[in-house]
Amino acid sequence: MSEAEVLVSGATGRTGGAAINELLKMGKSVRAYVRSDDKRATALRQRGVDIAIGDFTHIDNIRAAMEGVRSAYFLHPISPGILDAAAYFAQAAKEAGVTGIVNMSQISARRESTSHAAQDHWISERVFDWSGVPTTHLRPTFFADWLVYPHFAKEIWGTKKIEFPFADGRHAPITTDDQGRVIAHLLANPQGHEGKVYPLHGPIEMNHTDIAAAMSEVLGAKIDYAPTSIDVFKDKMENLYKFPPFLVQHLVEVAQNYRDGIFAGTNDAVEKITGTPALSVQQFIANNRAAFA
Ligand SMILES: NC(=O)c1ccc[n+]([C@@H]2O[C@H](COP(=O)([O-])OP(=O)(O)OC[C@H]3O[C@@H](n4cnc5c(N)ncnc54)[C@H](OP(=O)(O)O)[C@@H]3O)[C@@H](O)[C@H]2O)c1
Repeated sequence: MSEAEVLVSGATGRTGGAAINELLKMGKSVRAYVRSDDKRATALRQRGVDIAIGDFTHIDNIRAAMEGVRSAYFLHPISPGILDAAAYFAQAAKEAGVTGIVNMSQISARRESTSHAAQDHWISERVFDWSGVPTTHLRPTFFADWLVYPHFAKEIWGTKKIEFPFADGRHAPITTDDQGRVIAHLLANPQGHEGKVYPLHGPIEMNHTDIAAAMSEVLGAKIDYAPTSIDVFKDKMENLYKFPPFLVQHLVEVAQNYRDGIFAGTNDAVEKITGTPALSVQQFIANNRAAFA
């Protein structure tokens, strides 16, 4: 492996990929932690990114990826194993002398969360805190990217309806591009952010009627919000989208959290950390028109 100052896990995903884009713009030397040496790894190499191969089940792979690195992004998807992964990542960082971790958590992460994933995110935050490696925890609300996830975008564009189980709850959707910028700035300059927990929101709090109107405005087609029950959504997740059980359990529980206001609010954390305001839903949809082709 060549020299790199920053390690990014989840590098083939949305927030990790966006963080790498921003770090490269900032002139940082980056190592990506990826699960396989595939076309995506080759594309990263072509952009000057060093590649370390491994997953979160072997601490020795993580430790090797951390060699020489000053800061690291921890991204675990909503799947079993978050706690083991966080413990391995923290220990490897400690051994390697890493002085800044950015940990992707979420706004619903609480000791009392009924979502197993959200509770695991909360406990992972504590694991990083106990480790003593200075860590910044990110707690975003729901991503704007929900609207362009292929399964949802296809259905929304096909039916011209957003069929989510969120009743009249509200949130300020935040894009993964904005989060990538936040992550990159924190990795590049961790000083002053150690031990902080940052809720991350987009600029404008909306309900899904507002979100449907914003999409209609940009896409030039009338899209309506057609709220469903949580049970109907669960059935679709299991039988239509074929989501794995851990993800279904999480989304069922956080749908109720969303109705109860846990995802609500807005703030200027993106602008404060990066110097650039967060994108609106309209800007995000305009940037992602291709998802609705
Ligand atoms: N979506 C939301 O609204 C929302 C809101 C708040 C917080 N979050 C948090 O955001 C995170 C998801 O972020 P994201 O959208 O950037 O993720 P993403 O785009 O789904 O990317 C997931 C990344 O994790 C990698 N990965 C998958 N399984 C793995 C495993 N078993 N071991 C190691 N790596 C694995 C993937 O690699 P491959 O490409 O090889 O599969 C990919 O690089 C989750 O922690 C979630 O709790 C999400």
